[in-house]
Amino acid sequence: MSLHLNPLHAELAVEVSGINLRKPLGKETLAELQSALARYPVLVFHDQDLSDDEHAVFTKSFGPIDPGLALASKRKQRLKNTDVIDLANIDADGNVLAADNARNVSLIANQLWHSDSSFKQPRAQYSVLCGIDLPGEGGETEFADQRAAYDALPDTTKTRIEGLVAEHWAFHSRNMLGGGDFTPEGMAMLPPVDWPIVDTIPESGRKTLFIGVHTREIRGLPTAEARMLLLDLLEHATQREFVYRHVWRNHDVVMWDNRCTLHRGRPYDLTKLRELRRCTTEYLAA
Ligand SMILES: [Fe+2]
Repeated sequence: MSLHLNPLHAELAVEVSGINLRKPLGKETLAELQSALARYPVLVFHDQDLSDDEHAVFTKSFGPIDPGLALASKRKQRLKNTDVIDLANIDADGNVLAADNARNVSLIANQLWHSDSSFKQPRAQYSVLCGIDLPGEGGETEFADQRAAYDALPDTTKTRIEGLVAEHWAFHSRNMLGGGDFTPEGMAMLPPVDWPIVDTIPESGRKTLFIGVHTREIRGLPTAEARMLLLDLLEHATQREFVYRHVWRNHDVVMWDNRCTLHRGRPYDLTKLRELRRCTTEYLAA
């Protein structure tokens, strides 16, 4: 099979056609997708109406599944396939959540710039997000190219951050937004983890920033100085020139490399149904 690639934004995002994600991937097609991901860390597929099982099988072609925050949540699972993370704003009975439901904290936290599971060991490699039912307005997903952002840093900043290690904590963003649906026992299962602020992607050899809203400290720096540096880096790394905004259509599938992109959802009307489902792989080489 030969894929057709239509670039959407610089070397960040590309539309991929000529593939049916419901069918098992042959070796050749998998290699083509991996090669596309090494150049463009965001792949967009249209008209892919995947079942949860098909979604999980496709994702597992790229590595073992990362369960995300499922361990720490006290929420009743709505989906049968536990490899698939439910990102819908509805409860187990299919009703749209009330505005003050604690679950909304996590959904709103997705509107902060982050890399999925950066707070875990191992962290995430690829995420595959399926748009099932999207509202007409708002709710876009934005991606920021952290390789391009690194390349554009002044040399003095590159020198300053080389070798620095940041602490990532899952609940930093939730605390900032006023809490969430997590138990103390669940939170204890996800202690903070450390990752270098500058990383290299093995497949491309490109250097990248690895930051986002889960970072709360930098080893060896006072908290205030660390947080200011992290905020400055985040502001730099999410300038419009580095960002692709995805406007969803039902049955779009968007796949991205969490090692070299940040992403965030944009606001939408919380009283209207919005349903997306995500599968993510672990980065075992890290
Ligand atoms: Fe995310």
